Amino acid sequence: MHIEKNISLKPYNTFNIDVKAKYFVEVNDLSELKELLDDKNYISEKRLIIGGGSNILFTKDFDGIVIKLNNSEIEKFNETDEEIFIKVDAGVEWDSFVKFCVDNGLRGVENLSLIPGNVGAVPIQNIGAYGVEVKDIIESVNIVLLSDLGEKTYSNNECNFGYRNSIFKNELKDKFVITSVLFKLSKSNSINLDYSPLKNYFYGKNESKITIEEVREAVIQIRTGKLPDPKIIGNAGSFFKNPIISKNQFDDLANIYKDLKGFPESNSDIKISAGWLIEKCGLKGKRIGDVGVHEKQALVIVNYGDTSGNKILEFSKMIQKEVKNRFEIDLINEVNIL
Ligand code: FAD
Ligand code: EPU
Repeated sequence: MHIEKNISLKPYNTFNIDVKAKYFVEVNDLSELKELLDDKNYISEKRLIIGGGSNILFTKDFDGIVIKLNNSEIEKFNETDEEIFIKVDAGVEWDSFVKFCVDNGLRGVENLSLIPGNVGAVPIQNIGAYGVEVKDIIESVNIVLLSDLGEKTYSNNECNFGYRNSIFKNELKDKFVITSVLFKLSKSNSINLDYSPLKNYFYGKNESKITIEEVREAVIQIRTGKLPDPKIIGNAGSFFKNPIISKNQFDDLANIYKDLKGFPESNSDIKISAGWLIEKCGLKGKRIGDVGVHEKQALVIVNYGDTSGNKILEFSKMIQKEVKNRFEIDLINEVNIL
């Protein structure tokens, strides 16, 4: 284990923000992690666990120790003709796991293709895309508690998964390291084309003939058509969550805006598109210096060059204010602001 001092975090966050960490270390397995967490020299330091840094906005230097988990095992369990359980270490790149599943005929994860970041982060905000959330395939999550280094397993039910939400963002916030995740994949489930852009992609094709490789390819094409590649333009995907509003508020808005789409969350609540709200405020493509709203997807804030985290935060607040003034709706950050 090599602990570096005063290093730039620019290569470790997809917004490309140049802040410094007091200490930075990469750990390769659970015993190294525990050794580090128990090291008297660093025990009083603030800790930040990072994976791919694709859901973080740094607004200042990190005055503590940044820990990047690089554990990388994938282990299969209890395989039958119908299903398989796979334990995947937190440091495995998420999309390489998705590809591994698709290549091996394991179904249920293909709609989540090409989401950046590592496996350790996926339960935290219950990543989702194209009609699937990762909770649909998570069996349990293994963690180490920062308080006493105890190992615990949270079953799917205990994770309290919701839309971009889980116990890890609430009761357990800042108290744990996710070390691995146990997934349950099917060998026979049918594909999920509920999300309309995906359905449209396959328009006219016999659904029973569509393979999971084709679904993965479709998701990759749709995503790359509208989301900026962080290797080219700094961003962290959707900056805000899609808001969930009451049916009454939705009906009032839908009377005014005929193109408003809603997705029922419960009998009384409806999810609407934050990108639509931002676009309606005339902000799609808006740019101030090196910060902007992406031209093809208004929910994504981009760093065109070398802007600071604070400028991005300020810009995001301007967006929130405009949406609030026009629609009386609060946009809540999806990105973790540090
Ligand atoms: P990081 O950004 O490194 O960390 C995120 C948070 O989790 C931080 O608070 C960090 O401290 C904590 N954390 C990370 N790993 C651990 C761990 N092992 N233990 C404890 N805490 C940990 N998200 C979606 O849900 N759907 C999408 O479709 C989607 N599309 C995206 C597209 C683009 C272009 C980008 C840039 C992002 C997108 N995202 C999407 C957001 C992001 O990719 C996901 O949230 C991803 O799971 C973050 O993984 P990460 O490893 O980069 O996490
Ligand atoms: N829309 C607009 N203008 C925009 C963007 C979207 O009007 O600029 C409207 C359109 O009606 C469009 C609808 O919103 O049909 C949905 O757009 P899209 O399919 O791009 O999805 P989204 O709701 O904007 C969510 C997730 C994405 C995920 C996609 C696909 C959130 C916060 N975002 O975006 O996740 O990839 O669905 O399932 O839920 C992320 O979390 O970082 C992320 C990228």
